[in-house]
Amino acid sequence: MKKITKICCIGAGYVGGPTMSVIAKMCPHIKVTVVDINQARIDLWNDSNLEHLPIYEPGLKEIVAATRNKNLFFSTDVDAAIDEAELIFISVNTPTKTFGKGKGQAADLKYIELCARNIAKVASTDKIVVEKSTLPVRTAGAIKNILDNTGQGVRFEILSNPEFLAEGTAIQDLMHADRVLIGGDDTPSGQAAKDALSAIYENWIPKERILQTNVWSSELSKLVANAFLAQRVSSINAISALCEKTEANIQEVARAVGFDSRIGSKFLNASVGFGGSCFQKDILNLVYISQSLGLPEVADYWEQVILMNDYQKRRFAENIISTLYNTVTDKKIVFYGWAFKKDTNDTRESAAIYVADALLEERAHLSIYDPQVKEQTVFRDLDFLNTRTPEENRHLITVAKEPLQDVKDAHAIAILTEWDEFKTYDWEKIYDKMLKPAFIFDGRRLLDKEKMETIGFQYYTIGQV
Ligand code: UDX
Ligand code: ADP
Repeated sequence: MKKITKICCIGAGYVGGPTMSVIAKMCPHIKVTVVDINQARIDLWNDSNLEHLPIYEPGLKEIVAATRNKNLFFSTDVDAAIDEAELIFISVNTPTKTFGKGKGQAADLKYIELCARNIAKVASTDKIVVEKSTLPVRTAGAIKNILDNTGQGVRFEILSNPEFLAEGTAIQDLMHADRVLIGGDDTPSGQAAKDALSAIYENWIPKERILQTNVWSSELSKLVANAFLAQRVSSINAISALCEKTEANIQEVARAVGFDSRIGSKFLNASVGFGGSCFQKDILNLVYISQSLGLPEVADYWEQVILMNDYQKRRFAENIISTLYNTVTDKKIVFYGWAFKKDTNDTRESAAIYVADALLEERAHLSIYDPQVKEQTVFRDLDFLNTRTPEENRHLITVAKEPLQDVKDAHAIAILTEWDEFKTYDWEKIYDKMLKPAFIFDGRRLLDKEKMETIGFQYYTIGQV
């Protein structure tokens, strides 16, 4: 089996950046080059000030500091990195299509296709090409087709190696992966490629946790794992609505249910709704392929997970409006949190975006504070919805530089992300500054209800009256 000494990763995003950093750290004998067409992003990865890395992940900057320009390199010279590498990870974004066939459901594979064509064009030696981006089932087949038919006679082996890291805990997840999944052909050359990739991970992952499958099982398993996780969140969120109509408390219910070892306690935190770049996109892919393959019952079953999530976000916004006497027009509401979960600066599909949109449609004034999200990102997320003009958004929204900046005379505070620092705020001081009655809408069940009520707040949370 050929030992890999040079790898390249196309795409320096939330998946490619942390994954390659960890590979570089755990495999000092391998040269890892991460390339991206986005010059600004690569410049940030190379910035001497590690606080400027384009991605916030606990533990990431320490690993980059230890490996960068030793065996980890960031570059925009995509062609050179492809040609030099023996193994190429494709880790580009695959957003949901916003137009044409499969609009709103299917993944847009244009970046993947461009990558494959680029590899075909410049590769002058045999390569193992590994799909790392989350992709619909059978994408490997499409990549192989492009590579085999437009290449220069070099041999390509295509593997699927889905990423299971969760943002906010990416480094831990990569270092101590529950499993690594490698899908590839069962031919002798396919087996050799799977073994070569496996050998990289074996530098730090126990071999029994490295699972080999055929390509399609690997691709489908990624979608299914995310669908199952998201389904748990939607299931508990559905029950949270029921708890709010009864004396049941969602935390107590989740605990009691989770104690059943067949069910388990993880991913049962009721919330304002799941976000992130994966859950919704992967389920939509599952729905789309099920429909396309003539399985409408399967499609409808999984689609319900997303409909429940939409309902949860809508319900949270409606609860704010109805509690504030059915009008939020010209009222100031302070948002704590914009990222889709704590410990990340990623805001893709964050519930905060949709809750904000609903309130802005009622002409509320929002002040948004998130410890890691930049002002331009908040405006980009809201402008992208196209519900209002960019000017209207800037008129209605302030992005606060520090948490207490806009609490004076605020009608309500809404907690959208479970950042630990929110728990440590001086809530008495915040209460004093706010208009009375002062409301908190805790979309993350982060604060203690009794404590908040003792201070004087009118406190509302998910799944508890
Ligand atoms: C997910 C998968 O966990 C990961 O394996 C895959 O590789 C990518 O998709 P990620 O989206 O980064 O990871 O974060 P995750 O921790 O799964 O959270 C997703 C969303 O669900 C967040 O908005 C989170 O706040 C929400 N969530 C999670 C809940 O609301 N309740 C829970 O109990 C768990
Ligand atoms: P993910 O969460 O999947 O990592 P990101 O959007 O964070 O997604 O990162 C994907 C990266 O891939 C982006 O930085 C984008 O510029 C890069 N990219 C997309 N297409 C190409 C391409 N053809 N060549 C190189 N980089 C690409």
